[in-house]
Amino acid sequence: MQLEPNPVANPGPIPHLYVHVPFCPTICPFCSFHVLRRRDDLVEAYLSRLDAELAMTAERWPDRGPLETVYLGGGTPSHLTDAELGRLLASIRRRFAVNDDAEIGIEVHPLNVGPDRPARWRDLGFTRVSVGVQSTQDPVLRTLGRPHDAATALRALESVRSVDGWTVNADLIVAVDGQDVAADLHRLAATGVDHLAAYTLTVEEGTPFGRRGVSVEEEAERRAIELAAEILPGYGLARYEVSNHARDGHRCAHNLAYWRGRSWFGAGPSATASLPATAGTAGTAGTAGTAGGRRLVRNPPLEDWLAGAAPEEEPLEALEVLRVRLLTGLRLAEGIDEAVLAAPHETLVVGPPDRSSEGPADPTMLAELHAVRARIENLCDQGRLQRRDGRLVVPAGEVVVLERLLAELW
Ligand SMILES: C[S@@+](CC[C@H](N)C(=O)[O-])C[C@H]1O[C@@H](n2cnc3c(N)ncnc32)[C@H](O)[C@@H]1O
Ligand code: SF4
Repeated sequence: MQLEPNPVANPGPIPHLYVHVPFCPTICPFCSFHVLRRRDDLVEAYLSRLDAELAMTAERWPDRGPLETVYLGGGTPSHLTDAELGRLLASIRRRFAVNDDAEIGIEVHPLNVGPDRPARWRDLGFTRVSVGVQSTQDPVLRTLGRPHDAATALRALESVRSVDGWTVNADLIVAVDGQDVAADLHRLAATGVDHLAAYTLTVEEGTPFGRRGVSVEEEAERRAIELAAEILPGYGLARYEVSNHARDGHRCAHNLAYWRGRSWFGAGPSATASLPATAGTAGTAGTAGTAGGRRLVRNPPLEDWLAGAAPEEEPLEALEVLRVRLLTGLRLAEGIDEAVLAAPHETLVVGPPDRSSEGPADPTMLAELHAVRARIENLCDQGRLQRRDGRLVVPAGEVVVLERLLAELW
């Protein structure tokens, strides 16, 4: 059986970079990302600090390998001017080799898509653009507190689609009160987008929606996922992750790397990175780690990040790495290579990463692993998980109850 490369034991080069751009035209009441209104002086400070952070990352990871994906997310990267975006990309290219066929993605807001901008973004080297349409229904956009109407969002999407040679994604939020989800899915898919992300509305504490007690009916969530599965294949958009659908050849390589448990670098305020503990650090303060471990690194928010504050580092114990790997991998239609669960002495690291070494797993870990395997067997017997060519896959009918399934699994 072909084993997936084990990103924990064999970190190898890290070909993925996420850059967080926190500035937005307005702050949406449902959003829990690290975002703020643009101020020119802050943007200037942001770009200088980002350049310094990338230089530091490059210095600490001499064996970093060329980048296969770069993702500018946020926040709203398109809320930077084209000159600022050019500067940001130049900072990346100064510190990292970027493959000729790399996926270089940018998230854009409908209000930022002026008539000539998409062509300039293409000239800057972007190969994938993601438009935050959210809905094609004005009442839904008003409920979401978006500062644009449906016509503006669809015009922005059309303008981005008029440029050849890149992948166009539209983001949709589903299960919003009063929304005709089927109409939104049909209208957006009919524009001919290459990729469609349909996220069910999540309400986090601390957001205006959370404070107002906005809630999402579980039934509305289920129905929205079912509708996406029914409607989108008719437009050539196949589901490859719970919320993500793409035409052949247009899946998001950057997000796939996350879901497949790869490592990535992160830069910018509040950006996260997932790194093996074998060398360097993406942030400002880390030290060399030990073989085989993994850590999540999270940068501080803008003010502290500008002041050079150290990122938070969370070492992940081997079992936790495996748990995340399994639960994230099962979100993908391709599922996960079962071999990841089958060879604990190769896959796992004994003890916490700061004291770890490769070797046979300890008895507690093995007991937990056996229990997980037994639960998998049980779910397979019930038909709620399937085995296909050595991979564990969630059958289509179970995707709508995925969270429940994952909660039972681990
Ligand atoms: C960084 S934003 C995209 C670009 C730009 N900031 C915008 O909003 O147009 C990423 C996407 O996350 C999704 N999103 C953000 N908050 C969400 C929430 N609470 N529930 C569901 N989806 C959400 C939206 O679809 C949004 O387009
Ligand atoms: S949804 Fe987009 S525009 Fe709205 S606050 Fe979040 S990141 Fe900013």
